[in-house]
Amino acid sequence: MNNSIIKKINELKQKHNAVIIAHNYQLPEVQDIADFVGDSLELSIKASKTDAKVIVFCGVRFMAETASILSPDKTILLPDINAGCPLANMITPEDVLKLKRDNPGRPIVAYVNTSAAVKSEVDVCCTSANSVKVISSLNGDEVLFVPDKYLADYTAKKTSKKIIPWNGYCVVHMRISAEDIKKLKRKYPGAKVMVHPECRPDVVEIADAVVSTSGMARYAKETNAETFIVGTEVSMLHRLKKENPDKKFLPANEMAVCENMKLINLEKVLWCLEDMQYVIKVPDEIRKKAIKSVNRMTQLV
Ligand code: 13P
Ligand code: SF4
Repeated sequence: MNNSIIKKINELKQKHNAVIIAHNYQLPEVQDIADFVGDSLELSIKASKTDAKVIVFCGVRFMAETASILSPDKTILLPDINAGCPLANMITPEDVLKLKRDNPGRPIVAYVNTSAAVKSEVDVCCTSANSVKVISSLNGDEVLFVPDKYLADYTAKKTSKKIIPWNGYCVVHMRISAEDIKKLKRKYPGAKVMVHPECRPDVVEIADAVVSTSGMARYAKETNAETFIVGTEVSMLHRLKKENPDKKFLPANEMAVCENMKLINLEKVLWCLEDMQYVIKVPDEIRKKAIKSVNRMTQLV
């Protein structure tokens, strides 16, 4: 069954000059057919560098929007139009406009997990991989950060800036507790703990490494340990196991499942190439403003 779907996907990829890129949280079978698997920023940069005309973006909407911002001449397809990010939805462009009015002179930094419309109203973007570098580079002692309060907290502890956070959080990473990790550490005392900076501060505090999803892939390869406790979305373990067959990876909490990422499956990838939908196209007036905050970040890192 899967083989015939994969065959059809490959035929349509050729016909449309398309590439498939997938986030590290996609279902294993989707990761396995992708031309490239990576973290949110890597995927958009990859999308902008390919010669392909069509990008099938297996991830959530803000990621496809970032690809559209960076590659306006390409067709960006999201296989399920309902694949959103609850964290990104916790802030609107109107919220940002109010923040600006209430905080004249303070720069506003947006995590890449935001809509294109939010990106169009802020000074600069950042990802989980570069938040420290981006915020350290800004003038002034005080910075507004939207929407993830936990990434803000982690970043503040690594810089000399005062960060004023928006009250957003990732509903998936919230499910991981320090107790989950301590329990596993009691069973596997030699294990290294790596967590995403979207985790709560008490989880971040007891980790050996606080890294983006692709940072986890690098840490697992480079670290001389047999066992790793992984504090992020569970599908990350597929890539970790595939790339490190001799190492053991344990999810900090098996309930850390991003239902939005899981909306995409092989059938939907096929249908999206058959019907050429759903097209994600950021309107030009938003794109022209949003690209400034995205470019400012990419020039810094
Ligand atoms: P990364 O940029 O680390 O892949 O994270 C994206 C994300 O949505 C984490 O929940
Ligand atoms: Fe959004 Fe959290 Fe899912 Fe990442 S894991 S896409 S931040 S809801």
